[in-house]
Amino acid sequence: MKLVIAAVGERAPGESRVALVPETAKKFAALGASLRLEKSAGSSSHFLDSDYAEVSMVDGGGEAYAGAGLILRVTPPSLEEITQIPEGAVLIGLLKPFEDKARLAAMNARKITAFSLELLPRISRAQSMDALSSQGACAGYQCGLIAAARCTKFFPMLTTAAGTIRPARVLVIGAGVAGLQAIATCKRLGAMVEAYDVRAAAREQIESLGAKFVDTGVSADGAGGYARELTAEEKAAQAEKLAKAVAMADVVITTAAIPGKKAPVIITGDMVARMKYGAIIVDMAAESGGNCALTQPGEHVIANDVNIHGPLNLPSRMPTHASELYAKNLYNFLSPWIKDGELVIDWADEVVAGTLLCKDGATVHATVKQVMGDA
Ligand code: NAI
Repeated sequence: MKLVIAAVGERAPGESRVALVPETAKKFAALGASLRLEKSAGSSSHFLDSDYAEVSMVDGGGEAYAGAGLILRVTPPSLEEITQIPEGAVLIGLLKPFEDKARLAAMNARKITAFSLELLPRISRAQSMDALSSQGACAGYQCGLIAAARCTKFFPMLTTAAGTIRPARVLVIGAGVAGLQAIATCKRLGAMVEAYDVRAAAREQIESLGAKFVDTGVSADGAGGYARELTAEEKAAQAEKLAKAVAMADVVITTAAIPGKKAPVIITGDMVARMKYGAIIVDMAAESGGNCALTQPGEHVIANDVNIHGPLNLPSRMPTHASELYAKNLYNFLSPWIKDGELVIDWADEVVAGTLLCKDGATVHATVKQVMGDA
């Protein structure tokens, strides 16, 4: 039977991305699939219904999902939406696998085959499918822009008739995909940028962007190319060295994360108290607790005249390009398995197996099972 691929407008508050864009709809149609999209699902990303030439536009999620074999999402479906997904359908999205046991149980009750892109192996072959990277790049770019817009100083050096203005000093903590994009954005705007990460490989990447590496002497490479959590001694050594760079910065952008764990607290209240009056912290880790002890997720707080921003869902601030990149990630993951309008998945494929969250009524991903129990 011909594969029906369905997508709906995302229901999560503040979410403006969409999982199917006109370009990928055309490509899925060329593979022989038939496509269904809830009316206006793309409008918050500025894609009109009329842009989706190959797609049947339908009213509401229930109508989109009825009889669908493959469901594309950005955010996880709610428990109510899960009841509308046909039994045995394949679901793919950023499904927040470590967040909600009830959601895992509901998906398993309907024997949904779920792929969670947060679990995608970070191997070279999977780079074109890497939604954490594409959305991380959007988030890092947005952090740079927020910092520049909120800073009460120019980012670049200016030579004016009234005198010379010194460039703003930016410190970026955490130089993964998002941090590197924040560094690049601040550099393009002319700021003097320093950066730090615990992974040894980050030094070269920071320097290749023209930023200065802050050497704390603490390096903590963990499994799979990620950072590991620091010991108490390492945290103290890091804090001592970083405190000086933090105190001198006009802007601190923090992006440090450990997969599946709460974000490490790197900037303490004491460090904030020693920052310049009017300085800014943009804490990209706000969603997972924050890298600054004083961050309030989704809020702007002021402590000791330091402005601490904890923005949430940064890719949604640039939904057109964020959706385009995300939808391409989905297409690149799925297209090898769609042949003549049928979905034929090779379960032994390393990327497929690594991203698989639930199948045949059970949670199958080893790390998720370990963290969440047998949900
Ligand atoms: P992430 O979002 O998980 O973490 C952000 C950054 O925070 C990381 O660079 C991490 O080292 C750093 N960090 C953690 N604890 C810290 C601390 N206490 N102090 C300072 N920094 C801290 O990372 P992301 O961007 O998802 O990438 C992490 C790794 O994955 C990198 O090795 C990267 O090269 C690799 N990667 C591989 C890809 C591929 O081959 N497909 C694609 C993207 C990333």
